[in-house]
Amino acid sequence: MSAPPGSDRFRAVLGHFPTSVVAVTALDRAGTPVGMTVGSFFSVSLDPLLVGFCPARASTTFPKIRTAPGFAVNLLAHDQEWICRRLAARGADKFRGIGWRPAPSGAPVLEGALAWLDCTFADVHEAGDHYVVLGAVAALEADGEGAPLVFLKGALEPVRRGSGN
Ligand SMILES: Cc1cc2nc3c(=O)[nH]c(=O)nc-3n(C[C@H](O)[C@H](O)[C@H](O)COP(=O)(O)O)c2cc1C
Repeated sequence: MSAPPGSDRFRAVLGHFPTSVVAVTALDRAGTPVGMTVGSFFSVSLDPLLVGFCPARASTTFPKIRTAPGFAVNLLAHDQEWICRRLAARGADKFRGIGWRPAPSGAPVLEGALAWLDCTFADVHEAGDHYVVLGAVAALEADGEGAPLVFLKGALEPVRRGSGN
């Protein structure tokens, strides 16, 4: 009988699936911007408008986002790799040098993001060592024409458009 696949194989195989790179942001109870890099963003429903993402149970940032009335999902541009890395690192002062303006919920919309959605919490499910968070979309905008960042096989890269586009 073959052994069930382990987490290393899971990571290696799942790495072949390209994912978008977004920053999920909010204001904590003190009104301080908080955020985390997320590759698990997905769209869910048109009626009502729902999106989702999967924060790790071990995340120290998600509990702060969870206390906010809403959160923003920011689609990062190819030249925002530094923001991706900053918001993926644990620690204080993640927003140093990052420009932002408030979405209607107050959640930070990052300067230079290609698109953003402002959401309220619709549901939070437990799923293994992660949560599945569903957000009801209250406002959304696509601001940029540039190439997004994607995560593929363990690396960050810009989406390259074909010459025919
Ligand atoms: C490309 C990329 C995608 C990521 N996707 C997720 C994700 O979907 N869920 C998650 O919990 N963490 C994800 N992370 C890790 C978090 O950004 C990061 O570990 C965490 O927010 C920092 O720790 P903290 O939450 O304790 O501040 C990702 C990191 C990178 C670089």
